[in-house]
Amino acid sequence: MKIFVDTANIEQIKEVASWGILDGVTTNPTLVAREKKAFVDLIKEIHSIVEGPISAEVVSLESSGMVDQARRLAKIGRNIAVKIPLTKEGLKAVKILSREKIMTNVTLCFSPSQALLAAKAGATFISPFIGRLDDISHEGMNLVRQIKQIYSNYGYPTQIIVASIRHPLHMLEAAQIGADIATVPFDVLEKLFKHPLTDIGIDRFLRDWRGLPEKDKAF
Ligand code: G3P
Repeated sequence: MKIFVDTANIEQIKEVASWGILDGVTTNPTLVAREKKAFVDLIKEIHSIVEGPISAEVVSLESSGMVDQARRLAKIGRNIAVKIPLTKEGLKAVKILSREKIMTNVTLCFSPSQALLAAKAGATFISPFIGRLDDISHEGMNLVRQIKQIYSNYGYPTQIIVASIRHPLHMLEAAQIGADIATVPFDVLEKLFKHPLTDIGIDRFLRDWRGLPEKDKAF
C-alpha cells in the first residue's frame, strides 16, 4: 500500500520524506489555510520536495471554473493530482481533465455509487472519507470494501485513497482490505512506529551491551 501524508505543512512533509516511506501528499483547502502561505507557492514548495502525486484542490463549484483552476495547478508539475469534489459539476470536469491526461483525485466521497460514477468519469484517484463517516455512526471502512469490490468487478483503474484517517487501526484496515493508498495525518504516522515492546527491547539490549568489556565493544 502506498502511503501519502495528509498535510500541507512543509516541515511535516520533509520529516516524513526523511523516513523513506513517503509516496505522495494530499492537501485540502482547510489544511492549506492553516499554513498562512500563498496557495500556489505552497504547492510549488511541496513539489520541490515530493516526486509522487501531490493533491491540490479546486475551489470553484462549476465545471468550467474547476477545469480552469485544474489546468493552472497542473502546470506546476506532472505529479499534481487535482482534487475535485464529488458533484455533478465535479465529474463533468473530471471527464474533461482525464482526456487532457491531467490527474484527478475525486474527493468527499461518501457512497459506493458516487465512487462508481467517479471511476466512469475517468478519475485517477477516489478519496472515500472514512473518519467523517465513523463520526456519524456509519462504518467508514465498509465503504472502502464496497468500492474495492466494484472497481475489481469491472477492472476500473481508479486508485482508492483511504482518506480522513484518524488512528492507526484505520490504516491497518485499509491495508487488510487492499486499498491502493492511505493518506495519513502526521500524528497518526508517528504513532504507527511505536510499540512499547520495541522500546523495552532496545533498553534491554543496550543494558546487556554495557556489561561487555570496553575492549570487546569495537566494531
Ligand atoms: O484527506 C482528507 C482529509 O484531509 C479529511 O480529514 O480529518 O478532516 O476528516 P478529516
